[in-house]
Amino acid sequence: MNSGDIVQQRKKIIFSGIQPSGVLTLGNYLGAMRNWTKLQDEADCLYCVVDLHAITVRQVPAELRRHTYETLALLVASGLDPDKNILFVQSHVPAHTQLAWVLNCFSMFGELSRMTQFKEKSAKHSDNINAGLFTYPTLMAADILLYQTDLVPVGQDQKQHLELARDIAIRFNNIYGETFRVPEGYIPQTGAKIMSLADPTKKMSKSDENENAVISLLDPRDVIIRKFKRAVTDSGNEIRRGEGKEGIGNLMTIYSCFTGKTDEEIEREFAGKGYGEFKMAVAEVTADGLKPIQDKFAELMAEKTYLEEIMKTGAERAAKIAARTLSKVYRKVGFVQI
Ligand code: TYM
Repeated sequence: MNSGDIVQQRKKIIFSGIQPSGVLTLGNYLGAMRNWTKLQDEADCLYCVVDLHAITVRQVPAELRRHTYETLALLVASGLDPDKNILFVQSHVPAHTQLAWVLNCFSMFGELSRMTQFKEKSAKHSDNINAGLFTYPTLMAADILLYQTDLVPVGQDQKQHLELARDIAIRFNNIYGETFRVPEGYIPQTGAKIMSLADPTKKMSKSDENENAVISLLDPRDVIIRKFKRAVTDSGNEIRRGEGKEGIGNLMTIYSCFTGKTDEEIEREFAGKGYGEFKMAVAEVTADGLKPIQDKFAELMAEKTYLEEIMKTGAERAAKIAARTLSKVYRKVGFVQI
């Protein structure tokens, strides 16, 4: 017998996180969550509500608490089975902050200064450029590296942070020997960057002050229709991608995510039809796509104790795995173990 015959194929480990800093958006769903549900049958998946990350920007405590429940409920409502996946809240597993401290000592001031998100958030919150905002990516690296993660499914905007996590892992491994698995990103071909409906050159973001810019996963059908009707496009009338047609391109991406149609198929379907008709079609598929999630969400929010059970079980399962990596790291850097 060939030795390869008895080696069992190890399941891949998947980790990703989402901030409970507001109601989740269509961008979060199409760029990240939708992929998470696709992976749950073929891999060991951990999905984390990253409340520690959320406080790098000032939060109202009662709202943060509510958003944490809501985010978890939306993950389950979008199709993540709490038995198949480890779903948990970051602050419930102290190993995240413990490893983050160690990794801070292996992250360079220069590389953290180059992070686009740090630059953008510091410009936006110039009265609160705190050290947590600066070291945010090392906590994210700790999240990922604690679980010996193979794949990290995220939207385009997290690619730079992921590359930093890889650099930190490689740096640590080079000094202390093989400790962390070096993770790969998993970024969808369609939907990795959903743009604002009010300014299609900007990413759709939870924190946008213009509510017409963002489709929230909890928006009712009439609100979704109104927002798409108002979506900024160009002065032309053809449904196709092109220079100066970022708004239409963004709507084509959203339509494609929900229907699975290619650009050519969408162009054919709407040839000779105007922007109004196309916007209405995008609104309809979005409202239809979100409806089952919204219904399930409403049920789950009425069952707080069920959500708390998920958090508790998830944290216990995650903590067990995390403890192995943390203890290895503590031993390698020279901490006395008692
Ligand atoms: P967050 O909470 O900003 O976003 C969660 C996920 O949604 C994706 N996303 C988008 N995708 C497409 N279009 C958009 N407009 C859009 N907006 C957001 C994000 O790329 C992300 O995948 N730092 C992370 C959270 C985090 C994390 C981690 C992720 C903490 N630790 C470890 C992966 C692994 C963040 O702020 O995501």
